[in-house]
Amino acid sequence: MVVLITGCRSGFGLLAAVEAARRGHRVYAGFRDLSTKDGLVEAAGDLPVFPIQLDVTDPEQRETAVQKIMEIEGRIDALVNNAGVALGGYLEQIEEDEMRRVLEVNLIALWALTNQVLPHMRGQGAGTIVNVSSISGRLALPGLGAYAASKFALEGMSEALRHEVKPFGVRVCLIEPGPYKTDILGRNRTLCRRATEEGPYRPYTEKAEQLFDNIATTAGDPMDVANEIVALCEAKRPPLRTVMGPSARLRVLLKRYGPWGLLETMISRATTP
Ligand SMILES: NC(=O)c1ccc[n+]([C@@H]2O[C@H](COP(=O)([O-])OP(=O)(O)OC[C@H]3O[C@@H](n4cnc5c(N)ncnc54)[C@H](OP(=O)(O)O)[C@@H]3O)[C@@H](O)[C@H]2O)c1
Repeated sequence: MVVLITGCRSGFGLLAAVEAARRGHRVYAGFRDLSTKDGLVEAAGDLPVFPIQLDVTDPEQRETAVQKIMEIEGRIDALVNNAGVALGGYLEQIEEDEMRRVLEVNLIALWALTNQVLPHMRGQGAGTIVNVSSISGRLALPGLGAYAASKFALEGMSEALRHEVKPFGVRVCLIEPGPYKTDILGRNRTLCRRATEEGPYRPYTEKAEQLFDNIATTAGDPMDVANEIVALCEAKRPPLRTVMGPSARLRVLLKRYGPWGLLETMISRATTP
């Protein structure tokens, strides 16, 4: 299979790229900044992993990357829309450019790249699109509203797209990880600009940061998610949703079967200073 994965500098993208190649696939690994490819190159060794410049928010780079793969391979069998950004901060404090950026990377760019790839998959009569969502696409926590908005939207878009392209042999699915130890909990952990200013939300932000510190220490092994991403690319009939991790499964169960009031009380207890 020829696989295109976005956001391969670290985390799920890097691990899934190497794992897919290890399982015999030819992998095009997208980088927001190609000069950061060394970690992947080292991890991949002689495996068929080919780093490409692909800032998903750049229309020209999207077009060039897909064209290049089509020229070399003549097909794209799987697209893993993995690139993503998180943003901590209470919604009232988030500024418009910050909200737009989260939605741009996690939703709009993903949709636009998918549209570049879809004509080729339809032409082949086959293809798989794996959209990396989050448990935050199923249950929203305070202090993560912008991120949750982008992932809830991604969930809706993926559901619709799954129906739309099924007649053409294209499969669309979502993976919804809980917390896993990747750079999104470290190097890429970002708070909105106004998060630390004095004001009514300050104690809540501090509490949320403590909570995320704890979550970061108990987070899962990202290799589990990478393995599942590759398995979804290979599956004949991938399910619409795959929830990853015990805490994510519990949250989905509580939301589905528990009374909303109970869930709200639990979240309030965990996040109120
Ligand atoms: N780890 C978790 O706990 C968790 C849980 C649920 C969902 N997720 C989702 O998993 C996906 C991967 O995240 P991760 O956890 O592996 O974190 P990560 O290590 O921070 O990886 C995110 C990747 O996305 C890239 N990226 C960001 N903006 C981009 C852009 N404009 N164009 C291309 N690439 C871009 C980053 O590149 P740079 O570093 O160079 O910016 C990085 O390679 C994200 O969609 C995230 O929302 C993660």
